[in-house]
Amino acid sequence: MKFFIDTANLDQIAEAQALGILDGVTTNPSLMAKEGIKGAENIKNHYKKICEIVTGDVSAEVISTDFEGMIREGEELAALHPQIVVKIPMIKDGVKAIKYFTDKGIKTNCTLIFSVGQALIAAKAGATYMSPFIGRLDDISTDGLGLIADIREIYDNYDFDTQILAASVRHTMHIIECAKLGADVMTGPLKAIEGLIKHPLTDIGLAKFLADYNKGVK
Ligand code: E4P
Repeated sequence: MKFFIDTANLDQIAEAQALGILDGVTTNPSLMAKEGIKGAENIKNHYKKICEIVTGDVSAEVISTDFEGMIREGEELAALHPQIVVKIPMIKDGVKAIKYFTDKGIKTNCTLIFSVGQALIAAKAGATYMSPFIGRLDDISTDGLGLIADIREIYDNYDFDTQILAASVRHTMHIIECAKLGADVMTGPLKAIEGLIKHPLTDIGLAKFLADYNKGVK
């Protein structure tokens, strides 16, 4: 299972990278805005900075909603760095754009997936990744993890190469459940990733080992 961090915050990306278990980064226009990054040139520079920190794939989202605009923007983004994956929304022109980039050998991440039908179309278009937003489905009392399970079943039926990138992960248990369901990738906040490391018995056990060591060296 690949671990991506879902942020545009350079400190958090560097912190996750330093753990040695990070496989990539996802961003979106809202995450860029949260960091105060505005304007096409500043956003592009920010993507380059992210690529310099991490070794894996970095999703960079287009903001155009028409085919020509997505192609123009996506080509500019892909030219920034070899690690860039062009992130494209699941709309009709987006499907055409994904197919275009697939044919050109440029990696894509089909975003804003909320149904199995959308997941099927993303795979047919040849998306490298497709991102079901599990947290946002949970927010409206719909089973986000159930969607991951259904997509896994369908993709396995046909051996689709498209990777299931569980997105909108909000907490540590989402990551564990996604791993159980066979999501290829998860993207979430640093806090959710760090939650996997923590266990109170580890802390108690370590405190006892250190206390015993210090008794022994008296
Ligand atoms: C995915 O690529 C998105 O950036 C992200 O996971 C959305 O998460 P949110 O629903 O917490 O905003």
